[in-house]
Amino acid sequence: MSKAKKESKAEKVVPGKRLSITEKYRLYEASVQNPEADIKFINKVYLDHYGKAPLSLREDFCGTGKMACEWVTQGPKHESHGIDLDLEPITYGVDHHYFSLTEDQQERVKYIKGNVMDPHHFECDVVVAFNFSYYFFKERNDLLHYFKTVRKSFKANKKGAFFIDLFGGTEARKPSVESAKHQHHTYFWECERYNPLTAECFYSIHFKDHKSGIKYRRVFSYDWRMWDNRELMDLLKEAGFSEVKSFWEGVSRDGTGNGNFKESNKAENCESWVTYLCAIP
Ligand SMILES: C[S@@+](CC[C@H](N)C(=O)[O-])C[C@H]1O[C@@H](n2cnc3c(N)ncnc32)[C@H](O)[C@@H]1O
Repeated sequence: MSKAKKESKAEKVVPGKRLSITEKYRLYEASVQNPEADIKFINKVYLDHYGKAPLSLREDFCGTGKMACEWVTQGPKHESHGIDLDLEPITYGVDHHYFSLTEDQQERVKYIKGNVMDPHHFECDVVVAFNFSYYFFKERNDLLHYFKTVRKSFKANKKGAFFIDLFGGTEARKPSVESAKHQHHTYFWECERYNPLTAECFYSIHFKDHKSGIKYRRVFSYDWRMWDNRELMDLLKEAGFSEVKSFWEGVSRDGTGNGNFKESNKAENCESWVTYLCAIP
């Protein structure tokens, strides 16, 4: 979401016109997801820390489970579980990602319709919570409970790693709209509200179809609390993780992020950023 630009143009909104379920997830994935880049990053951090490749993945808040499906294409020993409360994205993911896998790959992916707050009785090398989904937890105790649940899931596996992403920046904490143009659609990421006293925020995703000119508003909306890097590091440690690594993206010549994340505790206070934390049990 960081590479989007500020919006300026007029728009055509047709009240009541909605995207089909298939279209909304197709556009969402095309606009915000890059599981190949996430997996490359996870593999590198895990290899640097443990000297071996991670084989099993648990994708929390998996939505369509695109990453869980991508994970098993890496090799015959790779396994994954995707957990989400909502059957709608899971169904899209089964139809569009799971069924695109070979039979052997399908046997190594499991979708679970469930709550990430509940204990799940399987071991994984890596747990991820991406696209800021844990921002749903507005209370400190709830987020701490979730982090403790993940920490306990590594009980028998001493070589675990928990990855989350986060975003922020001076532009992120005020009403604003960013957009990114794709071949057939434009993606909009709008901060509709931010409450500086509670850090609660309301974000929406809109899409504009280039052919019809129609803008579909609030295709996805998120009522979140914006957590910051320092409080997340503190909470992860409080949840029992022994080490928390923070990362920061390198900058290319034009001043935008270059997709290369390095471990760091120093960062420029820029307008808009996305980064990762990795917690070691
Ligand atoms: C922002 S989407 C993220 C989807 C996906 N991880 C991605 O990278 O695009 C958030 C997802 O979290 C799911 N969700 C919210 N609370 C949950 C919970 N407590 N347990 C499991 N899934 C949850 C929602 O159903 C939704 O599909």
